[in-house]
Amino acid sequence: MTETAPGGRADGQRPGEIQEATRRDAALAEHPLLEVAGLSVAFGRRRIEAVHDVSFTVARGQRLGLVGESGSGKTVTATAIMGLLADNAQAAGSIRFDGEELTTASDQELSRLRGRSLTMVFQEPMTALDPTMTVGRQTAEVVWLHEPRSERSEPVRQRVLAAFGDVGLDDPPRIADSYPHQLSGGQRQRVMLAMALINRPQLVICDEPTTGLDVLVQDRILTLLDGKLADTGAACLFVSHDLAVVARLCTDVLVMWRGRIVEAGPVDHVLREPRHPYTRGLIATARIEAVTPGQRLPVLEDFMTEEEPA
Ligand SMILES: Nc1ncnc2c1ncn2[C@@H]1O[C@H](COP(=O)(O)OP(=O)(O)O)[C@@H](O)[C@H]1O
Ligand SMILES: [Mg+2]
Repeated sequence: MTETAPGGRADGQRPGEIQEATRRDAALAEHPLLEVAGLSVAFGRRRIEAVHDVSFTVARGQRLGLVGESGSGKTVTATAIMGLLADNAQAAGSIRFDGEELTTASDQELSRLRGRSLTMVFQEPMTALDPTMTVGRQTAEVVWLHEPRSERSEPVRQRVLAAFGDVGLDDPPRIADSYPHQLSGGQRQRVMLAMALINRPQLVICDEPTTGLDVLVQDRILTLLDGKLADTGAACLFVSHDLAVVARLCTDVLVMWRGRIVEAGPVDHVLREPRHPYTRGLIATARIEAVTPGQRLPVLEDFMTEEEPA
């Protein structure tokens, strides 16, 4: 098992920027990993539209942020991709994952993808985890469900303990034998990450994975996620209301406002030249939030001065 500082990263490396650039170049040559086209989602008999005509792609290994205020349609977009929309939802449009159309896929096909190639870290781990089962067993089930016994190179328990160690959880055996309520919020979110990563997915959707955690824990989890994505080469759709968090983790960003994508592009470009007034507002807010005493947060000026070398 990997030695880790409490709450620290498992590997101690900075994600390789060169590696990432190479991956991006290679990804451009292929069809996108995820292709969302004209996605609209409405709810209820009155068909109140929460998401309107949303289109975007995620390339292999790409990190795309989806940012917008509360109620703008981010979670609805994420759950539509996962095929986990509420029963009262009506969706239109196309969602292709690795060339396969998901909107018309059978439950069986979706279950095969979910938890293996396509995984999600939910905002609230307490509702996403089963309260009646130890987190070790829940994580093991993700492996049991998706990997035939014949393909397993080591016992599942060992895999789970290694995965817990990898996400910086101290004393993995003790964590594995704990129920969700026996863990802290930060530990639960690390467990969720371990579950999302254990089958080496191609795409991880993270829906505000650190919202509600205190700043220090949030910072550690983001560093961890950053490192894990770099290690595994997984693509990430990172949903957040916080542009500063997105800027830290993602290369590209979509800005969502009232169910529509109002701005899209490389993060540094969007930060430098926001076109939509809503994006300008987001940036202004993020600047104020960035001034946290005693903490070096990713400040938006970092990006803004880069364009004018001295
Ligand atoms: N099951 C549902 N039934 C009715 N309306 C819903 C449902 N789920 C989400 N909505 C509505 O869709 C809109 C977008 O919600 P959501 O995607 O959760 O926003 P956020 O950007 O904060 O994640 C909101 O107005 C919300 O009330
Ligand atoms: Mg949400």
